[in-house]
Amino acid sequence: MPALVVVGAQWGDEGKGKIVHFLGEGADWVVRYQGGDNAGHTVVFDGQKYALHLIPSGILQPGVKNVIGDGVVVNPRAFVDEVKMLEKRRIKVRGRLFLSLAAHVILPYHIYLDTLREEGGRGIGTTKKGIGPCYEDKVARIGIRVADYLDADAFRNLVRQNLKVRAADLARVKSLKLIEEEVFDGYEARRRFLEGFAADTGLLLDAAKRKGAKLLLESAQGSMLDLDHGTYPFVTSSSPVAGGACVGSGIGPTTITAVNGVTKAYTTRVGLGPFPTEIEGHVAHYIREVGHEYGTTTGRPRRIGWLDVPQLKAAIRMNGLTSFTMTKLDTLSGVHPIKVCTAYKLGGRKILEFPISRRAQLEVEPVYEEFPGFSGDLKGIRKFDALPRGAREYVLAVQKLLAVPISIVSIGQDRDQTIVRDARRLWS
Ligand code: IMP
Repeated sequence: MPALVVVGAQWGDEGKGKIVHFLGEGADWVVRYQGGDNAGHTVVFDGQKYALHLIPSGILQPGVKNVIGDGVVVNPRAFVDEVKMLEKRRIKVRGRLFLSLAAHVILPYHIYLDTLREEGGRGIGTTKKGIGPCYEDKVARIGIRVADYLDADAFRNLVRQNLKVRAADLARVKSLKLIEEEVFDGYEARRRFLEGFAADTGLLLDAAKRKGAKLLLESAQGSMLDLDHGTYPFVTSSSPVAGGACVGSGIGPTTITAVNGVTKAYTTRVGLGPFPTEIEGHVAHYIREVGHEYGTTTGRPRRIGWLDVPQLKAAIRMNGLTSFTMTKLDTLSGVHPIKVCTAYKLGGRKILEFPISRRAQLEVEPVYEEFPGFSGDLKGIRKFDALPRGAREYVLAVQKLLAVPISIVSIGQDRDQTIVRDARRLWS
């Protein structure tokens, strides 16, 4: 019974949505285990483009069952909208999507609190989707879970108690009475809607596992945005790393058989925080425009940088990566030379590891190796050997530096534009 975790190996936006959709064809269940509608997964197939925020990309694979796991934070309004959007586009959702009763709900006041903090001078560049404040409530043990949301009396009481706890901050936005009205506006219809999807998803996954089902566990965001292992405090409030797949879905670590890390052929980041290989100027501009490097959720322009081996080595370590997917190789066509950071300089010393201290993360200077690059349109190519020599050399050189196989190379948004180099180590 294989269970593959697909994680972002950088700062998010690596193209996990496409890869999960691609690998989802071989899976029975796809499970989203953390984050909320801060994520933006773009999937293109049959000439159609789908932007998913909350629902696993496996929903676009007929026959695959999907779970929004215990570790996810769910905005009920976003959930309803996304299901309706899919149904409008004739995707069958009912009976194929299960929402954990243990997932926490994001309510309008979480969004107000997120926005207040972001706009009050202490921001880190969040998506303002209420993610941080909802996880804060969870950790403070005052959070509201889907099971509570479905129990109208319990929900009313919990909301009133929580509004009192947050009263001092919320009073700066509008009266508590108005916020309370907003929470309950249309609640009964949403409650009934969510009821149709809610389940004990840990039990469902356990039963599937016993029957030998193939599980694919999908992270949102990326390893460097992980609350414990990322560039704290410029991180999200959950655990995108592979360990989070167990916590956020309720399956034990012995179930996981492989972990694929998704990395772009370069690096991007949205929001504030350290980014050692960040570049500006015409190369950054070229990559941003050719690669459409604008946030799926917020539309913000993404910061651009070269591939960073010490950063990816940290991702290998913290996730136990068994293979990589390299996405957006096509975007680098026409970039000469292509640089890869192989080490950092810090205080006159050469270091090979991504540092923990925030000062060091800001002060490290990348040491680069240069590659000549390649030209031409890669999008029609379906075999690794048919790629331009410079592209192949780049992938193989990066693989050597990482010492983990790059099993999949993606050269475009469409599902077909995917080259599987080595399928053997993908699932086990
Ligand atoms: P939050 O998750 O909205 O609290 O934002 C925290 C940090 O994570 C910010 O730097 C965001 O830009 C970043 N972030 C959150 N979701 C994503 C994503 O899906 N892709 C890339 N960055 C993200």
